[in-house]
Amino acid sequence: MSTERTATLTVDGKTVEFPVMTGTHGPDVIDIRTLGGKTGLFTYDSGFLSTASCKSNITFIDGDKGELLYRGYPIEQLAEKCNFLEVAYLLKNGELPNAGQKADFETTIKRHTMLHDQMTKFYSGFRRDAHPMAVMVGVVGALSAFYHEALDFSDAEHRSISINRLIAKLPTIVAMAYKYNKGEPFMYPRNDLDYTANFMHMMFGTPCEKYEPNPVLVRALDVIFTLHADHEQNASTSTVRLAGSSGANPFACISAGIACLWGPAHGGANEACLNMLEEIGDVSRVNEYIARAKDKNDSFKLMGFGHRVYKNFDPRATLMRKVCNEVLAELGLENDRLFKLAMELEKIALEDEYFVEKKLYPNVDFYSGIVQKALGIPTSMFTCIFALARTVGWITQWEEMITDPEYKIGRPRQLYTGAARRDVPAIAQRP
Ligand code: SDX
Repeated sequence: MSTERTATLTVDGKTVEFPVMTGTHGPDVIDIRTLGGKTGLFTYDSGFLSTASCKSNITFIDGDKGELLYRGYPIEQLAEKCNFLEVAYLLKNGELPNAGQKADFETTIKRHTMLHDQMTKFYSGFRRDAHPMAVMVGVVGALSAFYHEALDFSDAEHRSISINRLIAKLPTIVAMAYKYNKGEPFMYPRNDLDYTANFMHMMFGTPCEKYEPNPVLVRALDVIFTLHADHEQNASTSTVRLAGSSGANPFACISAGIACLWGPAHGGANEACLNMLEEIGDVSRVNEYIARAKDKNDSFKLMGFGHRVYKNFDPRATLMRKVCNEVLAELGLENDRLFKLAMELEKIALEDEYFVEKKLYPNVDFYSGIVQKALGIPTSMFTCIFALARTVGWITQWEEMITDPEYKIGRPRQLYTGAARRDVPAIAQRP
């Protein structure tokens, strides 16, 4: 990272200079950490439209080129040539594993897939019809009530154990939330299956008969995990970093990330998108909803469309559409009503001047609901799947933050627009 250039700010006749930092890829940034001290002024950037909140070596997005890199590798190549655990190893360690490292990592993760048996009792505290994301927020946060022996995060070994536990246990936790909702018995992990096949076994298997996951569907879900693994400083990752900056334990931080991801503007969009497609119901009604999305007086937004960073296309949406095609073909659902409706909606929206002018394109959530529904995953579980995969990115970003020598507790200021200072009146004088 270089800082030869400077930016000059002149306010009230006073001129101050700030270094301009250049990274490997992407826009340069103005280092304004001394702005308050030099000028008494703060910047204002609600929603962080023009703010780099940290330095990071993990993931890079080029919104104009539609490019997503994990540790420098394009998402298209990772989705084709690696499985999710290899990608998890890459995000966590910065390099892809060789054959020996891959085998060791797989074995380590397999050794942590079970939950403390007492945690199964947490589920019975929830209503059967509780949203599974509510269950996940609770159960993942509760992990910190069970793993006291590795909570010293200045110790790299403790961090590694906690990271491996989270990567290993999230599939079990998600599958248990699904089983609890259905009223079916929990399925224990099977160490003879790989990561994603084991997850499908825990989701769809029963004690009554042997469940052999379809390898085409396993591969499809594994790619979906890879596509969701990390994505720079999105809302939920920023939540995890901010929670972690106070020294909170990683389980609590991931629980905070899950809570943030749940929102329909973020990870909840895949569930909202499928519900929207069901509501539209038929191609004949697409234009009615396109009109609503364009209507300033209507709060309706086309779920699965638009992105803060991608202003041409979300490479994950392109890959997700391919996975969707493969799964529907494998299941003989090529004429799936919702898939055809989604493709028609995408075609119409991409030709509409409003969407073109505002650079609104399908994002990762647009097709993910359709393919997950075809895989037998219920709509309410879609964001749980997203959270399962994004846990790898969240926990990697958490570790990068707490091991950064420059890291401080995150504490933004504000522009105060409330009442001016005033004295408390006696109650008799209050209007
Ligand atoms: C994810 O940040 C990440 O990386 C997130 C994510 C990840 O991997 O972590 O990629 C995952 O969250 C994907 C996004 C999923 N959300 C949705 O699909 C919900 C629908 N999309 C919108 O809510 C919206 O596009 C956002 C939240 C995704 C982005 O919002 P921004 O960047 O704040 O943009 P904006 O809301 O200011 O929109 C700009 C304009 C606005 O119109 P004007 O005020 O300029 O007139 O575009 C309009 C918006 O009204 N607009 C839409 C729209 N999205 C934006 N209009 C109709 N339908 C939409 N979907």
